[in-house]
Amino acid sequence: MNSDLESLFSLRGRRAIVTGGAGGVGEMLARGLLIGGASVHIVGRYLEKVEAKARELRQLGECQALQADLATDAGIEAVRDAAAAWPGGLGILINNAGMLARAPLGEFTSAQRDSVLGLNLKAPFLLTQALLPSLRRPATASCPSHVINIGSAAGLGSTTVDTYSYGPSKAALHHMTRVLARKLAPEHIHVNAIAPGLFPSRMSASVLDDPQKRAVMLARIPAGRLGEPDDMAALVVSLAASRYQTGTITALDGGQTC
Ligand SMILES: NC(=O)c1ccc[n+]([C@@H]2O[C@H](COP(=O)([O-])OP(=O)(O)OC[C@H]3O[C@@H](n4cnc5c(N)ncnc54)[C@H](OP(=O)(O)O)[C@@H]3O)[C@@H](O)[C@H]2O)c1
Repeated sequence: MNSDLESLFSLRGRRAIVTGGAGGVGEMLARGLLIGGASVHIVGRYLEKVEAKARELRQLGECQALQADLATDAGIEAVRDAAAAWPGGLGILINNAGMLARAPLGEFTSAQRDSVLGLNLKAPFLLTQALLPSLRRPATASCPSHVINIGSAAGLGSTTVDTYSYGPSKAALHHMTRVLARKLAPEHIHVNAIAPGLFPSRMSASVLDDPQKRAVMLARIPAGRLGEPDDMAALVVSLAASRYQTGTITALDGGQTC
């Protein structure tokens, strides 16, 4: 063994995609990868928004914007076509874009169920599948390509009120992570998932902006605090730099699901 810390964790020379990278958890992931030395493409539905965030993130490294609605076939194809033009292929795909729908039992609609399952489960599968040729290009045993799916503590048994498709979509995403990990490991493409607890974002604002709900949620976290951007950045760098870890679901939740 002759590795130093820098070579163990460096992402220099690696190209990454972070879906939903223009804010919230996706921005925390993008920042981590940039700090690690990767060149990062952030994906979102609104061109102005992703371009503005990419400009801001360029203070950390090479960052580009990609506009795509991943709930549509055209959006998946746009990302696939962009990556196909990168000569060195794609080393890291982070399937982070996701959504949550809430309605009382009895009023939860078929459309809500379809949109949550569509973005949280179907899109990560279709995008991974479409990007396989790009992921295969740089993949070697000593430097595998990585797919990292952003699941949730809600997919590990932690339950939330009136979110009848969110937890199930994340539990299924965790399972899909393991299925794809087994299939792709012989090709040196590793597939892992991060299951976050509670991090500040647009999605978690409905809970965190309400002092009572915030206090209830905090009381459920043994570490006694919310997740912070550096918590997410440190984990994604370590996963994206790993050489032997695949098929794992790592809870990042301050002990919430213990
Ligand atoms: N925050 C938490 O506490 C927490 C906990 C557990 C898991 N997570 C997971 O972390 C991920 C990010 O969530 P977040 O909390 O950061 O929520 P967020 O702030 O609402 O971010 C969601 C991201 O997804 C993008 N997105 C939404 N629909 C899209 C579409 N059709 N096509 C492309 N991009 C789309 C959004 O970008 P645009 O709207 O600009 O398109 C946005 O950047 C999700 O998978 C979520 O389930 C979050």
